[in-house]
Amino acid sequence: MFKFTLNHNDVTVAADKNLLEYLREDACLTSVKNGCDEGVCGSCSVLVDGKARRACMLTVAKVQDKVVTTLEGLSTREREVYSWAFGEVGAVQCGFCMPGMVISAKSLLDQNPAPTSAEVRSAIRYNLCRCTGYLKIERAIHLAAKALRDGETLGAEASTAKVGERTVRVDSEEKLLGTGEFVDDMKVPGMLYGAVLRAKYPRALVKKIDIATAQACPGVAVVLTAKDIPGERLLGHIVHDWPVMIAEGEETRYVGDALVILAATTKVTARKALKLIRVEYEELTPLLSPEAAMAEDAPRIHPKGNLLSETIMKRGDVDKAIADARYVVTERYSAPRQEHAFMEPESALAVPMQDGALTVYTAGQGVYDDHRGIVAMLGVSGEKVRVISKLVGGGFGGKEDLSVQHHAALLAWQCGRPVKLTLSREESFRVHPKRHPMEMEFTTACDDQGKITAVRARIVADTGAYASLGGPVLQRACTHAAGPYQIDNVDIEGRAVYTNNIPSGAFRGFGVTQTCFAGECNLNLLAAKLGISPWEIRFRNAIEPGGVLSNGQIADAGTALKETLLALKDVIDAHPDAGVACSFKNTGLGVGVRDVGRVKLKVENGVVVICTSAACMGQGLATVMLQIVAETTGLAKSAISVHAPDTMVTPDSGTSTASRQTLVTGEAARRAADALKQELANHSLAELEGREFYREYDCATDPMTSDKPNRVSHVAYGYATHAVILDGDGRVKKVVAAHDVGKAINPNNVEGQIEGGVVMGLGFALTEKFPLRNGAPTVSLGTLGLLRSTQVPEIECILIEKNSATLAYGAKGVGEIVMLTTAPAVACAYFNRDGKPHNSLPLKDTPYSR
Ligand code: FES
Ligand code: FES
Repeated sequence: MFKFTLNHNDVTVAADKNLLEYLREDACLTSVKNGCDEGVCGSCSVLVDGKARRACMLTVAKVQDKVVTTLEGLSTREREVYSWAFGEVGAVQCGFCMPGMVISAKSLLDQNPAPTSAEVRSAIRYNLCRCTGYLKIERAIHLAAKALRDGETLGAEASTAKVGERTVRVDSEEKLLGTGEFVDDMKVPGMLYGAVLRAKYPRALVKKIDIATAQACPGVAVVLTAKDIPGERLLGHIVHDWPVMIAEGEETRYVGDALVILAATTKVTARKALKLIRVEYEELTPLLSPEAAMAEDAPRIHPKGNLLSETIMKRGDVDKAIADARYVVTERYSAPRQEHAFMEPESALAVPMQDGALTVYTAGQGVYDDHRGIVAMLGVSGEKVRVISKLVGGGFGGKEDLSVQHHAALLAWQCGRPVKLTLSREESFRVHPKRHPMEMEFTTACDDQGKITAVRARIVADTGAYASLGGPVLQRACTHAAGPYQIDNVDIEGRAVYTNNIPSGAFRGFGVTQTCFAGECNLNLLAAKLGISPWEIRFRNAIEPGGVLSNGQIADAGTALKETLLALKDVIDAHPDAGVACSFKNTGLGVGVRDVGRVKLKVENGVVVICTSAACMGQGLATVMLQIVAETTGLAKSAISVHAPDTMVTPDSGTSTASRQTLVTGEAARRAADALKQELANHSLAELEGREFYREYDCATDPMTSDKPNRVSHVAYGYATHAVILDGDGRVKKVVAAHDVGKAINPNNVEGQIEGGVVMGLGFALTEKFPLRNGAPTVSLGTLGLLRSTQVPEIECILIEKNSATLAYGAKGVGEIVMLTTAPAVACAYFNRDGKPHNSLPLKDTPYSR
């Protein structure tokens, strides 16, 4: 028997167990999150005798006779103050880390009501946040401290939620206080726990799978192999090459491959049963690099061969331009695999319904993507499956592919009981696609005035075991390789190659992150040869409205790259050694791919309900939609609500990818709201009860193969310039990030994206690694190199808003571009300091690498 006080009540626990498991599973205190179970992320923070401790590292026995407090145990006043403060500054994004942050903040403020910045950062140094970059969290804690200290009365929100206002996010409070539900917080009667047997080797022939002993294990409800898939076994976004499970007689392709899935009454039983499965393998030599996979005698990973895709983009006469150039530089660059490290590991819950249909609760980047995959796998009609999104604890591209949704669905379908499947952090690392490692050779030429005359690039991407979104990622890497400049001669070739490594796919920046690094570094070398500054060479070549981008598209009137450069001129003049880099990034799928935003507004119970499937993974999409509807209709924030993505209720608005939702679905919201506004001119909202207003926005673009001289590749582009200032020790002291955002629908949201993206970019530049050995990760969450609160520099955000386009009030997506520009700016800062090229990431010879 173990006794302790939990949230002011005495509790007794019969047998010792992990404290996190007790709090979440037995005490149902789901504000305490499980982000790693390894003592690294801090999402599970609780107060033990007033000090912040990580529950996953404790047992019930260790808190015997102590006082344990979770967020649920804070006073009403404290909950109101933290909720208000974090909402005011816009500190909440995906929210998964937030309850843990509040616990650490309370632990600090109870001891030290007026902490310094360093003390606040130190207090949250064991709490990882992948979304925010920590700065807004720090500001929120200072604000909360003041309110608690001074006994301030919290004012009502002043915002009218119009476009351009710093409206408090609609999901801020539920995420901060842990009352909002992530999938793993859910429990339903009769629920089973799923588990997956993964491949032991990256490449091996599976000769036999014996599940008999596992099936006979008490508590095990169902054990399934590839033979039990009623419909399609191969799934995927574009190329259907990813097996739901590897079959007997088939080769494994990576260490995350599923061989067997099962469900049992407890997690422990499920894990135990996995160990009872016997698999007979014939181990084969894996292909662990594109070079090995492209060798003439290499075995085929997929029947069509090992080349997933090739992108070729040519304009002008590059040979001549290089021959005529004043200066030419050719360098090789390497960009590594990168892990998304969203704080919420993948989780899905599938529940069979009485009518024979299946409801699947997911946390991905598009409920209709999940729906398509599950329906195909089950071989049923669409109405047999309903997919509902719960809160999504970060995605960044890493939750675009099916990871757990289909396995939970198949288990529930076959055994007729609800099944929840949640990945451990270690499994999450093994399973979902990463950023593509790329090897790149870039040649850049210029004339004696520094005008860039040609870019030639050769790019090889390791796309891993399955296609995922490797084809489009390579294409974006190539179409953006020449940068946001007017360059008449380009010759870009890229290849994405299958290997037996973990698949590569979508990740914030979508291939451009890698080629932007290479192209921008070459510009620093040219500037040095010319004797001009890195800022100057960029300014001389920056694309302007009416100019022609390297893909042939004419830059529109809203193009503001030069404005971002000019916004940093004073910083650069004051710090001539500052690193500088520019980037551009498409908004929307583009290149002729159908890209439709869909929104339905429903007047229900006197409130306008915004229905769209567009996923919010933390970027604040629901609030953006609400502000667009409020602006258009003139309605108050309290008269508008947002429905969670649900394939039965909300129209298909595509995947949250390609920085598209603010513009594409935002424009659909504006159109639907405009239709409602017409009716509101003659009716009260009450009179419109039950009415629906549905609109679409279909952004037309031209395919890569179009022979139009100036094809429209994408409906919009965002532009950015970052400056990076190093301190005397060579650490990053400050980043100034100027972004052409078109129009900031909610500046708090946009700044949050920029700060989070910059910190992610600093990690990519300086500290993050995801190495594999024999195709398997050799790092854990703790050794990945994620920056913590104490390592983050000052970040200044400058928003340039000059887009007068009416689409979504002129907004351009910022989700990805915020990540692109930092790493090359950091590389430029070190080049300015030591004069040496820094051609591979994370950068070598920095205080961070030593
Ligand atoms: S779940 Fe405990 S530290 Fe991550
Ligand atoms: S808001 Fe911190 S991890 Fe997403």
